[in-house]
Amino acid sequence: MSNSTPVYASFCSIGAYIPEKILSNSDLEAMVDTTDEWIVKRTGINERHIAAEDEYTSDMGAKAAEKAIARAGIEKEEVDLVLCATVTPDYFNMPSTACIISDKLGIKNVQAFDISAACSGFVYLLSVAKAFIESGMKKNILIIGAEKFSSIVDYTDRGTCILFGDGAGAAIISATTDKTEGFVDIHASADGAYADFLVTPAPGSVHPASQKVIDEGLNFVQMKGNETFKLAVKTLTRDVVEILEDNGIKAEEIPHFIPHQANYRIIKAVGDALKMTSEQVVLTVGKYGNTSAASIPMAINDIYESGRLKQGDLMLLDTFGGGLTWASALLPFAGKKA
Ligand code: UT7
Repeated sequence: MSNSTPVYASFCSIGAYIPEKILSNSDLEAMVDTTDEWIVKRTGINERHIAAEDEYTSDMGAKAAEKAIARAGIEKEEVDLVLCATVTPDYFNMPSTACIISDKLGIKNVQAFDISAACSGFVYLLSVAKAFIESGMKKNILIIGAEKFSSIVDYTDRGTCILFGDGAGAAIISATTDKTEGFVDIHASADGAYADFLVTPAPGSVHPASQKVIDEGLNFVQMKGNETFKLAVKTLTRDVVEILEDNGIKAEEIPHFIPHQANYRIIKAVGDALKMTSEQVVLTVGKYGNTSAASIPMAINDIYESGRLKQGDLMLLDTFGGGLTWASALLPFAGKKA
């Protein structure tokens, strides 16, 4: 490609890893004061998958990445940037999980780093990958959303433990000169004024590791659930309407609306506001729960593996999470390059 030829970022492949162990609503009934009926009615979640004790975020990320690389039809040596979105890294906060994943994949001498944008992490990574590719700096970027959320969940807190699960998803974003394969648009934003809506207080510079951290459970995720819920519905609806309007696309033209899988009621409210049919809206929250940065790539992988996602299909992604952060993206599934 010459310097004068415009290059675009294209979404070439998807892969995911879902840990074997299932934590069902009836398992949770035995752990906290809750019921299957309450969880299903308020969240749409039936079960979630939990990583094994010795299975780490990097293990899940590497397994998802292997699939994404193979499905892109490239060799791992062709990957020139590895990015991981996670809020449950192997280590807080060095080395990055992206470095560990690169090593597990046997990819040497590659730039690798993590980003922290909670549930919005994967869509944030799409914007980072787009910038690297369109500037001509990189050609084949491996992006990963991976979470071992069970490592920061307090399984005595019924307000959070029913929601979250573990897993990973990955994609290869490559340079193309074919504009029809390129991302259409990405919106990404944040408002730190709501930082306390979703927070893992420790360890960090505010609360370094200490006996107090353990005694007060500050290492666990804390969430203002109802406040987050209301803001999520309002923000996501506005964001999705805006990205469609900005690009002159109508909601009925979207074959796959793939929202962050936090709560069925949030997804339904946004889908209804856009007058989406159930065929358009991708739903995996029932079987995976909320897997944070892994949620959207796991959902894309689900429709890929079931044969529903076809080459060239337009995807509308939207997400909301800790920070607070939110993001949406409009992009075609370019599929395998070769
Ligand atoms: O991924 C990042 C973004 N995260 C989200 O978007 C999550 C957003 N929040 C939610 O999904 C929902 O707010 C929850 C599912 C967490 C909670 O649902 P809610 O309808 O907002 O319930 P609530 O917090 O207003 O609580 C209603 C009642 C309370 O009891 P009282 O005060 O009315 O007696 C809670 O104590 O439900 C109670 N409750 C439960 N009861 C049974 C809360 N959790 C449970 C539970 N089982 N697990």
